[in-house]
Amino acid sequence: MNQKIFIKTFGCQMNEYDSNRIYDTVKKIGYVKTDRYEDANCYLLNTCHIRDKAKEKVYHEIGRVKKIFRSKKKPLVIIAGCVAQAENEEMLKREPYIDLVIGPQAYHKINDSILNYTYRKKIEETNFDAVSKFEYLSRIKIQSSKSSSFLTIQEGCDKFCHFCVVPYTRGPEYSRPFKQIIDEAKYLADQGTKEIILLGQNVNAYKDGNLKLSNLISEIEKLDEIKRIRYTTSHPRDMSDDLIGIYKDTKKLMPLVHLPVQSGSDKVLKLMNRKHTIKEYLKIYEKFKKINSSIEFSSDFIIAYPGEEEQDFRETLDLIKEVKFINSFSFIFSPRPGTVAENLEIIDKNISKKRLNTVQEILFKNQLDKNKSLESNTIDVLVENKTKDEKRLFGRSEYMTSVLIDGDDDLIGKIVKIKILNSNQNTLFGYAVDQKKLKVA
Ligand code: SAM
Ligand code: SF4
Ligand code: F3S
Repeated sequence: MNQKIFIKTFGCQMNEYDSNRIYDTVKKIGYVKTDRYEDANCYLLNTCHIRDKAKEKVYHEIGRVKKIFRSKKKPLVIIAGCVAQAENEEMLKREPYIDLVIGPQAYHKINDSILNYTYRKKIEETNFDAVSKFEYLSRIKIQSSKSSSFLTIQEGCDKFCHFCVVPYTRGPEYSRPFKQIIDEAKYLADQGTKEIILLGQNVNAYKDGNLKLSNLISEIEKLDEIKRIRYTTSHPRDMSDDLIGIYKDTKKLMPLVHLPVQSGSDKVLKLMNRKHTIKEYLKIYEKFKKINSSIEFSSDFIIAYPGEEEQDFRETLDLIKEVKFINSFSFIFSPRPGTVAENLEIIDKNISKKRLNTVQEILFKNQLDKNKSLESNTIDVLVENKTKDEKRLFGRSEYMTSVLIDGDDDLIGKIVKIKILNSNQNTLFGYAVDQKKLKVA
């Protein structure tokens, strides 16, 4: 009999990739996915530790599950992801309802952990073992590919920015073998994937001997079925000339570069241990623009980092005005346990909020202006699926903007010309040009 697993995912795209691979794995021991967690025999929470009360959110979520299952047989409760890694056995002590705690580098052991589990023997798996993990996962068939699929090529981080938990939760930098990645890309292409998004905490630090991210992209570019390639997240320190250079010839690399800068002030960048200056960042920006002026940048910003003064904040605003980032993320600094910045003096809440509002006003306006400039234009969109209400189709522009489309289902999985009629800050609205022509004819 099939067991049912409910998987809830928080955090970044790598967690989404991981949740899909976890599902591919547990399928081997008879689990099928359910969207209704009250039906689950196994409840898996894939957690994120990057900001705020991440840990508390997990306990709160378990509280909800406990309530729902009060009068039913308890499901197997598994905590995976970055909170699991950071908290490990502490979680089992604090919340006896949790059965297994498994960190991101131990997912290859998940089936054994589930099968060996007894109520007397709680299990905690949080050793770093990226090599075995990816070797194991590469032998498991991917079932969860879509028109646009993630592919993790690099995991972990050695940069130790003072605010960030990732080096502690994902472990040291590890690059998967080149061939293993290309095999996975080919497999995804055979399964119908049209767009591959290469993932890594420092994706442009990818290295297998002499082979780098630029080599990987060139190799994937040769796969006929793959029409679009993206990569995220890059670090400015690793934005090398060979990577920038491939934008000269590429037909498939999308023209949006996500390159987090965090702050526009050299002083704050130094306090954060980011290891680059604004001048260096702008130099990278100019190199891209020189190759292709339609390339746009998006970024992550941390607002009100300890030590950020009004002048530093103004420098962040100046940078945003200069680069005109589209689709950026911005958050107030959140002290994280175990990081260098954990105990630094935080900036007054009201000042922090005011600065965040100011930054977001400009970032959102850039986004809106960009979308408005596309109204009445025809753009290429990769159609991914139907919307939840099944009334329209959902796709993405070359710049990753969501597009809601009037069109028929047979467009799913294709790159289609869409005439944009309308837009708001986050979404473009339009119709499929060719289908309209056919219907009129
Ligand atoms: N590796 C990427 C880089 O170096 O830019 C970022 C990875 S991190 C998963 C994603 C984003 O979370 C960061 O770019 C940063 O803006 C934000 N972030 C990380 N730690 C934070 C903290 N303590 N407080 C607020 N935002 C944080
Ligand atoms: Fe975190 Fe910095 Fe590493 Fe990015 S580069 S994952 S922000 S430590
Ligand atoms: Fe969160 Fe871990 Fe990703 S902390 S952002 S899930 S690497």
